[in-house]
Formats: sequence, C-alpha cells, structure tokens
Amino acid sequence: MPWKTLDDMDLGGKTVLVRVDINVPMEAGRVTDMTRIDKIRPTVEAIIAKGGKVVLLAHFDRPKGKVVPEMSLSHVVDAVAGSLGRKVVFGSDCVGEAAVAAIAKAGAGEVVLLENTRFHPGEEKNDPELAAQMAKLGDVYVNDAFSAAHRAHASTEGLARLLPAAAGRLMEAELKALEAALGNPQRPVVAVVGGAKVSTKIELLANLVTKVDHLVIGGGMANTFLVAEGIEVGRSLAEREMAETAREIRHRAQKAGCQIHLPVDIVVAREFKAGAESQTVDVQKCPPDAMILDAGPKTVVALEAVFAASRTLIWNGPLGAFEIEPFNAATNAAALAAARLTRAGGLISVAGGGDTVAALNAAGAADDFTFISTAGGAFLEWMEGKDLPGVQALMG
Ligand code: 3PG
Ligand code: MG
Repeated sequence: MPWKTLDDMDLGGKTVLVRVDINVPMEAGRVTDMTRIDKIRPTVEAIIAKGGKVVLLAHFDRPKGKVVPEMSLSHVVDAVAGSLGRKVVFGSDCVGEAAVAAIAKAGAGEVVLLENTRFHPGEEKNDPELAAQMAKLGDVYVNDAFSAAHRAHASTEGLARLLPAAAGRLMEAELKALEAALGNPQRPVVAVVGGAKVSTKIELLANLVTKVDHLVIGGGMANTFLVAEGIEVGRSLAEREMAETAREIRHRAQKAGCQIHLPVDIVVAREFKAGAESQTVDVQKCPPDAMILDAGPKTVVALEAVFAASRTLIWNGPLGAFEIEPFNAATNAAALAAARLTRAGGLISVAGGGDTVAALNAAGAADDFTFISTAGGAFLEWMEGKDLPGVQALMG
C-alpha cells in the first residue's frame, strides 16, 4: 500500500488528530443509523493501545461555514461515548483555546471530540491557515473518513500534508475492498449499477465498461438504454435526450469486451405507489399508459447466472423502485443471490452508496456481502475512476 497505516506509526505519548466521518442521520435528536459511529472504534482502540491520545475531527451536515446550533457535534457525544464505551470530552471549537482546553482535560483512555469543522468557512475552502491551526493541536494525523475523502477540505486534505499522516483502520478496510473489487480484481467482474438517471452516472458507466466483464443496468437508467434501442417504455422515467449517450456507452462496452445486461422482462404499473396493481410483461411490451417500476423474474434468473459465473461483484444502485413494495422484488432477489454466492465462497461482493446499502439491508443481504462501504459520494467517485483528494494526501 502506498500510504502508512497505524502499524507504521509510533504513537506513544502523542496526540493523534483523527478525521472521522460521523455525518450520521438523526431524527428528533437521536442517531437513527449508528453504522458510521460504530466503525470508528477499531481505529480509536488501536491508537489508545499504542499509547496515543485520540482527538476526533469531523463534519456534520452542511452548515456552510457558519455556526448552526442544530448541526453541532455536541448532539452526538453520547452516541459516540456509548459506542466506544469510553468517556468523550467535547471541545466547542475544532481549533484554538476551546480545542486546546478539551485536549488538556481528557485523561488516559478518554477521547476528545471537537466541534463541527464546517462551522469554519476555511474547512471547505481547504484554507491552509485553518489547517495550520488544526495541526498545532496534535503530533500525528490519521484519516479514517474514506466517505469524506472526495472532499479536498482542510481537515481531509490540507492537514494531512502538515503532520506525519496515516490511514486509519476503516480507511484501510475501504481501500482494500475497493482494490479487490475494481483495482486488481479476480475475474470475471460484474458491476450492478442502478438508479434513476443516466445523466448523473455517465462517468461511472464510461469508466466501468473499460474495467468490468459484465455491466448490469437497472432502475430508471435501464429505461434510457431501452429507449436507445428503440424499445417503447410508455410513461416510464427515461431521459430520452440521453439516448445517444447510452448508445455511445454501449459502443464503448463492445470495444472493451464488456457485456451489458438490460432487463428482459419488466414489472409495470399505472401508479407509482406501494401496492399499486402491477403486471409482468416482456420488455418489448410495456403498455403506452404504464410505467416500468421493476425488473421481472426472468431478468433476475439471468442475473443470478451472471453472478454465478463471476468471481467479483460491485454494486451501486437498486434495480427498481425498491423503496415501495412490490417493486423491491428484483433488487431483493438479486441481492439475496449475491449474498448466497458470497456465503458459499464463490464471490467477492462489495457494495456502496446510501440507497444501495438501505436496499441490501432491507433485503437481509447486507451481512453476507464481503464488504459494505460506509461511503456514498466517495464510493461513486472512486468507481468513476477519480482520485480522491483525501486518499491522495495520505500518499504524501
Ligand atoms: C457523506 O455523508 O456522504 C459524507 O460525510 C460527505 O458529506 P458531504 O456530502 O456533505 O460532503
Ligand atoms: Mg453526501
């Protein structure tokens, strides 16, 4: 690996600034998904075991450079303390006197959490002055926030260049999983890409067709590819103006030896609502007054065969309108097939993106996947083949 890990660092007696991502969903003051918080523990424990003092730096939501009390990280102190099983000392600013005082106050085995880095306008501007003020607080920098690594901010990029820097355990795990899925994967590789729009995923599709052996396209995006082939999709969500782009992606795939898989049968309905009356028809037979809301069972059987013939699977985006029943059926069935093959040892399966993880959890498939990323935007940008500034900065 071209970056250092905690194993390479001497942390005895050092104050370690750890960039984490605890940008978690909250409702009525309660954290509704603890995943990101729970995942920082291995890094915190490793640093403490090596004799370091842990100072957590993080952003929360998008306060845009101002102090927004509802976006204070003070609201997650109890959740972090509970998850770590350690006392957490909160500092009401991520730089300056309040930060210095909080760090001084924390005793052995206690963890410091500093206030939302995005309360300072310099954070998102990657202001060297703000990064320098942060650097003054500690001796070593550890980045464990893969899911914020697509942002070149003071606490994710600038700071990494000012102190000896290393990847935390979660960062390491994310990077290893991504390397195994796309960097240097066991072949054949199948990618599943779903979601509403081709227009938001052009770069992703264009990159993937040069890297994977099979590309499964689902969700609203598939409709645009069907339109591009002259197939009528009725009132379905489709970007007709993107048809030429879809044809170009197909052409690129052909040249690269990547096989594209579209639905062969579809579930259609007249209304977009849970329990709407639906029917399953051949992909060529979408009624003019209906919408395609899911892939059909024949498509699922075909996908299972592709998965079974593959060694590596990377998944981003649901196959249908998974958030309402019964249009989650194809996503659920395909996810369970991938889970089964992974459990049996034949498949390395990696998934990421907020919707994707929610869909895999709802299907009961997530636990059997080889790796589920904590990242949304960063996972996508990485799949697009982009360099992530937070990762680049760790390479020195
Ligand atoms: C996320 O939640 O995806 C990361 O924490 C990044 O947050 P951002 O999209 O507000 O930069
Ligand atoms: Mg986001």
